[in-house]
Amino acid sequence: MLIVANWKAYIEDLNRAKKLLLASKKLASKTECDIVIAPPAPFLGILAANNKSQVAFSAQDVSITLGGAETGEATAAMFKSAGATYAIIGHSERRAQADTNAIVAEKLAHALARDLIPILCVGEQERDGEGRYLSYVREEITSAIAPLTPKERTKIILAYEPLWAIGKTADHAIGQTDLTEMVLYLRKILAELIPGKHSQHALVLYGGSVEPENIRDLARASLVDGFLIGHASVDETMLAAIAGQLASA
Ligand code: PGA
Repeated sequence: MLIVANWKAYIEDLNRAKKLLLASKKLASKTECDIVIAPPAPFLGILAANNKSQVAFSAQDVSITLGGAETGEATAAMFKSAGATYAIIGHSERRAQADTNAIVAEKLAHALARDLIPILCVGEQERDGEGRYLSYVREEITSAIAPLTPKERTKIILAYEPLWAIGKTADHAIGQTDLTEMVLYLRKILAELIPGKHSQHALVLYGGSVEPENIRDLARASLVDGFLIGHASVDETMLAAIAGQLASA
């Protein structure tokens, strides 16, 4: 399983970030999971310096620009140079700040060009009875992946994060059956876009109100390869409980 801890902007103090990293490293040593930490951009280089632990680092976003006279931008190359291996692209909180599908596609290409493994986030705002949410998610995936070369497509990690489930408590998250159904659907789309057998190896994550109370059930959903965890990833007690739940899943 792959666990991506999305610290968002919850952590604003460097000492707090260092403590949380230590707790996350402990979790990494206790589970079989691969742990990726996505800290706020100003902390990434400091936390990732001389990293010899099992955890890897991710950008929470990359700039649409490629450097130069662009005040305030944090580019894919900067994140790579600071120690990131991954980059979250198209998170709903970035899409809410005007990242359209076209912008997401461009950022995805920038991440790949700088050798960052992109974690492409998709997810509907709400579910409707007619299945419009399915074509909405299909469009988010296709618009991002279709412009890429076949080789680039094999590197994408997909994170399904329905907006209606983000930032809430476990009882608001998706259920096991619905998650299995959705992951099957996502894999079908990936099979159309990613050449040959590679699509079978593509990782599909779930995110949205993952907590100790539901992670075990969700982890048992067929074909899900891991989780993108927000608020529970910045709470040491929840983190430890998540590790415990996963160990017995
Ligand atoms: P959450 O956030 O776990 O707090 O719901 C997940 C995310 O937005 O990546």
